[in-house]
Amino acid sequence: MPDGTASAARTIAAVRSLGLLPVVELDEVAQAEPLFDALSAGGLPAAEITLRTPAALEAIGLLAKAYPDGLIGAGTVRSLDDAARVIDAGARFVVSPATDPELIAFCVEQDVLVLPGACTPTEVQAALRAGAELIKFFPAELSGGVAYLKALAGPFREVSFVPTGGVNAANLAEYLALPHVAACGGSWMVAPGLLRAKEFLRVEQLAAAAVSVVEQLRPAQGPGTA
Ligand code: 3PG
Repeated sequence: MPDGTASAARTIAAVRSLGLLPVVELDEVAQAEPLFDALSAGGLPAAEITLRTPAALEAIGLLAKAYPDGLIGAGTVRSLDDAARVIDAGARFVVSPATDPELIAFCVEQDVLVLPGACTPTEVQAALRAGAELIKFFPAELSGGVAYLKALAGPFREVSFVPTGGVNAANLAEYLALPHVAACGGSWMVAPGLLRAKEFLRVEQLAAAAVSVVEQLRPAQGPGTA
């Protein structure tokens, strides 16, 4: 996003290029910059800041300003008001745990990438009808994991998914190897305990390890172009 403006198409390209979306729960705004520096140092300048803590909105605004080329978005967005607030704060993408046609249509209208959560054919269909171009397959592992996603992608073969929920260093490659997986989301690189303990070097190492999995599987379109 070199010019810093919202554009769903540019953001989708960045998500695909990085192949990873760290799902972050921040206790304090002060964790935001060291966290993003650590992710960037690991080759992953991206963060989905979830609206699960009071610090989230301010952190999104701060990161969006401090890192205009970073892929900074909001997660756990469950209402139109929240979607409006995070977009106003500078979020480049909006992740929702559910398939909410109104919320999807709102983000599409704002030209901000929306990733609605879906795990059944009916939910995927509803998300597409509302204008979604990328689906958060959630909760990935508990819904049936890679085998389930393969079956789901059968009739939805033009659809791109971002499996999230139970994805980790051990199963990342299996998901990323699926042609209809644009990226994988997850908290394993940025677990709240690591942030609380200020283990930012560990965050960097975990991010770098995940980035190298992406690079091995997709050598032609490795990270770094967000
Ligand atoms: C999410 O909100 O996307 C999930 O809670 C992330 O799941 P994980 O913690 O299993 O990665």
